[in-house]
Amino acid sequence: MSGQSTVIAIFGVTGDLARRKLIPSLYSNFIKGRLPERLRIVGVGRREWTHDTLIDHAHDSLRKYAAPIFDGCAWDRFRQTLSYSKVNLPQPETYQNLKNDLDALDGGKSNRLYYLSVAPEFYRDVITNLGRLDMARENNGGFDSSSFWRRVVIEKPFGYDLATAQSLNRAVHSVFKESQVYRIDHYLGKETAQNILFMRFANTIFEPVWNRSHISNVQVTVAEAVDVGTRAGYYDGSGVMRDMVQNHLLQLLSLIAMEPPSAFDADALRNEKVKVLQAARPVHLQDTVRGQYAGYRRADGVAPDSATPTFAALKLFIDNWRWKDIPFYLRSGKAMRQKTTQVNIQFKRPPNSIFELTESGDYSRNMLSICIQPDEGIHLTIEAKIPDQQIAKSVDMELHYKNAFIADNLPDAYERLILDAINGDAQLFIRSDEIESAWGIVDPIIEGWEGDPAAPPMQSYAKGSWGPAASDCLLEREEHIWRISCLHENGATRGSE
Ligand code: BG6
Repeated sequence: MSGQSTVIAIFGVTGDLARRKLIPSLYSNFIKGRLPERLRIVGVGRREWTHDTLIDHAHDSLRKYAAPIFDGCAWDRFRQTLSYSKVNLPQPETYQNLKNDLDALDGGKSNRLYYLSVAPEFYRDVITNLGRLDMARENNGGFDSSSFWRRVVIEKPFGYDLATAQSLNRAVHSVFKESQVYRIDHYLGKETAQNILFMRFANTIFEPVWNRSHISNVQVTVAEAVDVGTRAGYYDGSGVMRDMVQNHLLQLLSLIAMEPPSAFDADALRNEKVKVLQAARPVHLQDTVRGQYAGYRRADGVAPDSATPTFAALKLFIDNWRWKDIPFYLRSGKAMRQKTTQVNIQFKRPPNSIFELTESGDYSRNMLSICIQPDEGIHLTIEAKIPDQQIAKSVDMELHYKNAFIADNLPDAYERLILDAINGDAQLFIRSDEIESAWGIVDPIIEGWEGDPAAPPMQSYAKGSWGPAASDCLLEREEHIWRISCLHENGATRGSE
C-alpha cells in the first residue's frame, strides 16, 4: 500500500459497533496487508481510558469477533497502531485535545479518516468542531506525494426524516466537500448486494429480459428473526421504515432497478441509483401495511402504548420506460419466521401454454432469486417435466457461494467499506441526493401512518410468522404472492401461486 501515512480516528470507539465490527474489520484488512503501511488508529471516546485500556478493549474484541483469524504475531504489530484520545463530543473545548493528539502523530501531514460511530445526535457536534479546528482541510486531495486527504465516514441513521437529513447535509457540506463524505449503508458492503451489479452487467443473458415486458413483479424481503432485544431506546423512536426501508431496502431496490451505468465508478453508479429513487411514484397509503409483533409493547424500554411499526410492506412503482406499472413489493420486519434477505424477480407466465397445469395446479413462472443472506447465492426457478408424468414442476438451479467460491467466511460488509473509504472509492456509499430522495419516498408514508385517519391500521402479527395477513392481501389484489426461494422451505410463504 502507499507509503503515505494514514490516521483513522474512530469516534465512539467504546461503543458496540466498534467492538463488533470496526476493530475486527480493520484487523482483518491489516493481516491481509490491505491497509497503508504507515497506519495509526486512534480511538476517540468520552471515557477516561488510557492507550492500554484501548489495547485491551481491542484485544477482547478480536478474541470474541475475529477468533478464527486472530494471530499473536499479527496482533503484536496491530496493537502498535492503536492509541486513545479523550473527547467529550458535545463540549467544543475538548476537541483541541484530539487535534493535539493527532498532530503529535503526524504533524498534521498524513491522510485522515474520521469515522463517526457515535449516536446520530452527535454527528453535527463532531463535524462542526472538526471544521472549527480546521481539521477537514485537505492538501491537494491526497493526489501527489506531498498532499494528503481528509475524509469522514458517517454511520446510519442519516437524518430522522427528509428535513433533518437535508439540515444534516447542509452542516456536513459547510465543513466537508461531498467528495470527502462517505455515508454508510452496510447492506451495500455485503458481497451478494455488490454481486447484483456483476450479475446484471457482467452477463448478457439477464439484461434483455430485465424489464416490464418480461417481469411480472419484483419482491424484496428483509426478514429478521431477532426482536427488538435491548435496542428499544433507539428502535421505539424509529421503527422499521426509518431503520430498514429508507436505507437497506431502497438501496437493494435501486441496484435491481437502475439502468446500466457507463462506468464502474462512484459517480456513474450513484447517478443511476438516484434516478431510480427519483422516479418512484408516491406510494398510496392503501398500498402499505404496517405491523407490530405481539408482545413488542412488553419489551424492555418500549412504551406500553407504542405505535411503532416493527413490520412494513409496501407496493411501489418506478415510473420510467423500463419499469412503468410493474409492482415492486418491499417488506421487512423483526421477530419474523427466519432471518433472510432475498430479492425475487418473478417473470411473466408463458403467453400460451401447450402443457397441462403444473403440479401446483397452475402455469407457473420463472423466478430469479438473489439470496443476499444467509446461504448466499442465486437461484433460478424453472419448470421441468416430472419424469413419467405429463405435467411440469418448478425446480431450482442453485448457485451457493459456499460451493462456488469455497466461501465459508465471506468478508464482513465493514471490511470492504472501511477499505473503500481509505482508498477513496465511494461507490458503495450513499450520496447526499440519494439519501434525500430515499427520505422523500418514506416520509409521506410515515406521516400518513401517524396522522391520516384513512391510513391502514396497525396489524398485530405473531412472533415467528411472516408478518400480518394484510401483507399477503397487498399482493393478492394483483394475483401475486410473496415468494421465498432461498430457504430450505422453498416456495411461496403462504398459499401458492
Ligand atoms: C441495521 C438495523 O441497520 O441493520 C438493525 O439498525 C438491523 O435493526 C440490522 O437488525 C440488520 O443488519 P444485518 O446485516 O444483520 O441484516
